[in-house]
Amino acid sequence: MAVLKACILLGAPGSGKGTQAKKLQERFNIPHISTGDILRKEIEAGSELGKRVQQIMASGKLVGDDLIVEIVRNRFSKQDVQSGFVLDGFPRTIHQADSLSDILKEAKLPLPKVLQLDVPDQVLIDRLTGRMSCAQCGTVYHRRLNPPRKAGICNECGSTKFVERKDDSEETVRKRLNVYKAETEPLVDYYRSRGLLEALDANLEMDLITNAIVGCLEK
Ligand code: AP5
Repeated sequence: MAVLKACILLGAPGSGKGTQAKKLQERFNIPHISTGDILRKEIEAGSELGKRVQQIMASGKLVGDDLIVEIVRNRFSKQDVQSGFVLDGFPRTIHQADSLSDILKEAKLPLPKVLQLDVPDQVLIDRLTGRMSCAQCGTVYHRRLNPPRKAGICNECGSTKFVERKDDSEETVRKRLNVYKAETEPLVDYYRSRGLLEALDANLEMDLITNAIVGCLEK
């Protein structure tokens, strides 16, 4: 029987969760579920939910567990998760991790592998303060570490407009790293004690990290 291609990418802001999740989505044709992306779309659309979370996200704090769990529960009611999924940015607290176990049970899915992307703090800060993304298609780049092939032109859609995230200023990045250590890092032990955690060196060239992740998923 084919192994379900599913994982949680666990890592600090800037550890490359979104970058790697996109590669896995393309490679295995599975949904990339990013709670950050879902919330940013709500903000862009000017919805009530977007208005509620805008300030919280800009400040680098976490949005409340109940709201996030409801979003993820809705997402897992869709049929496409049955062929696999990549979770990016969820769970982020012990409460969210407990809720995820319930959500997966309801969807009759097993707990997936948890791949911890390990990157030193100073590298995280360098990555986030240089991040930019295409304003049209959302492809993520880095001014220095991962620029478009032709300067100023998106590789994917040819747009010449790029945007930066509000929470990528150095001050807010430092706050986000503190929040990660306080609220999310305890999940490393949580998942290790359940035998689900694999720690990966994610301070490497992107394709090497993808290969390591694919190796874990195909085991
Ligand atoms: P979210 O959007 O999830 O952000 P994050 O976890 O802070 O992570 P990032 O998206 O900043 O980084 P990433 O790991 O995806 O790195 P990326 O691949 O882009 O959350 C944002 C906010 O939403 C939270 O602060 C919170 O308010 C709210 N939220 C979301 N989920 C929530 C939840 N579950 N509970 C409560 N609140 C929630 O890479 C970063 C940069 O590095 C890019 O420029 C990239 O090109 C570059 N890069 C990537 N890999 C490499 C590499 N190997 N070498 C060199 N450069 C690289």
